[in-house]
Amino acid sequence: MKTGNKAKPAIIVIFGGTGDLAKRKLIPAFYNLFLENWMPEQFAIIGLGRTELDDESYRGRLKDGLAEFSRTGAPADDKWAKFNPSITYFQSNIDDPESYKQLAEKLDALDKQWGERANRLFYLSVAPRFIEAVTVNINQSGLASVPSQDRMVIEKPFGHNKETAIELNQLLTRTFQEEQIYRIDHYLGKETVQNILAFRFANALFEPLWNRNYIESVQITVAEQVGVEDRGGYYESAGALKDMIQNHLLQILCMVAMETPASFKAEEIRNRKVDVLRAIRRFKPEEVHHYAVRGQYNDGWMQGKKVAGYRQEEGVNPTSNTETFAAIKFYLDNWRWQGVPFYLRTGKRMQEKTSSITIEFKPVPHSTFSDGQAENLMPNRLTINIQPQMDIRLRFMTKRPGLEMSLNPSEMIFDYDTCSTQSPEAYETLLLDAMQGDATLFMRSDQVEEAWDVITPIQEIWENRESLDFPNYAAGSWGPETAEALIARQGHVWALNAHNKTHH
Ligand code: BG6
Repeated sequence: MKTGNKAKPAIIVIFGGTGDLAKRKLIPAFYNLFLENWMPEQFAIIGLGRTELDDESYRGRLKDGLAEFSRTGAPADDKWAKFNPSITYFQSNIDDPESYKQLAEKLDALDKQWGERANRLFYLSVAPRFIEAVTVNINQSGLASVPSQDRMVIEKPFGHNKETAIELNQLLTRTFQEEQIYRIDHYLGKETVQNILAFRFANALFEPLWNRNYIESVQITVAEQVGVEDRGGYYESAGALKDMIQNHLLQILCMVAMETPASFKAEEIRNRKVDVLRAIRRFKPEEVHHYAVRGQYNDGWMQGKKVAGYRQEEGVNPTSNTETFAAIKFYLDNWRWQGVPFYLRTGKRMQEKTSSITIEFKPVPHSTFSDGQAENLMPNRLTINIQPQMDIRLRFMTKRPGLEMSLNPSEMIFDYDTCSTQSPEAYETLLLDAMQGDATLFMRSDQVEEAWDVITPIQEIWENRESLDFPNYAAGSWGPETAEALIARQGHVWALNAHNKTHH
């Protein structure tokens, strides 16, 4: 529960303060929290980096970032004047204990000035190879010596397979207790994703239907129109499976499939999510091709413009085996979901930018209507559009108005656009939670490790066996045909692909 936490001062230390994330996401989030009165009375944001920079030029960069990336646009002069003195730049060497000593002095001086020990939030927005140096030095310099007040937020990737994730967790817990570690998955901060819990557990209507007796299949699609942009180097060693499925899509699956938590406490919710991950059926190596499809985009046309294929992107190997698309059929071995396929799909350079969940209900057991009347008879379908369109739609059958009895699909819609408040950005929600010590929307070590475990068999096959048909989908399409075939075997179709939509 968020409350206007005005009490404790807060110091936010951003490792990687000159990076893209700080400029695009973190500072806009803190600024918008400030505008809406969520920041404590006293706070300081300290950006760390190697570059030589004075406070003024650092603030200038961040201000430009606000103009470009903040949902509230360029800051008004009077607001910025109040906000920006809280930001300082601290030039440091990430491996040098001396830097941490000086940082500790700076933080102590702030505590002294404010007359109380501030909460400290260490934000690790650095490449994985630096994490060890940062945590060891934080530990040795005593920067985070008050477990009840000091927290660290860490960005993905959390390892690159199960083994390395375990190692990383062991490394982090040498300095911080698990309760102090906030592993961020920004999808969990999205308004529409959080609403899944409200929708499921604050309504008596849907939960009784939320199981294998009524649900035919579940689809989760996260489609992007962008290619790999300037991240070719990173993406080459990631691919869609590790970049999106292991984290964002599996987390959404957990929200859809979890059992009813007894309370809204962080541990309770996270326990229920881990249960889901444990219930996901693991594939044997020889089954992988039956359940998982990979793709890589070729050149093609996007909104009237010719775009390059993945292998032609900067930083990408011209014979790359990295997948930019993945579709997987999962089954959960438990009472609620036995036999219900969960189709997960994500890709870059897809026809539309859209993230959405589709719950297909079973057809009526017997049609009362004649073939002619029931020509348009379709099973009920619930669509939760996460982004950019944000709404919940329930498809149901109605009589088409007129003298004849004929059926037509209609929709009940809850549209976020009709709400008077603008939805906060995911990072606003998550940073506020981290400042307030609420870990509900963050990933616990066992969640991360279990999610790796789920994808391990696929990862091993895909990494070690070259795909012979890459590139296998055109930029601007819905991915390779094999993804259609994957679900057609059960008689299903991807609900989002334009021809299967009931709206637009
Ligand atoms: C990131 C991935 O975690 O999520 C990116 O690394 C991806 O490859 C991004 O583009 C998508 O996030 P969003 O919020 O734009 O859907």
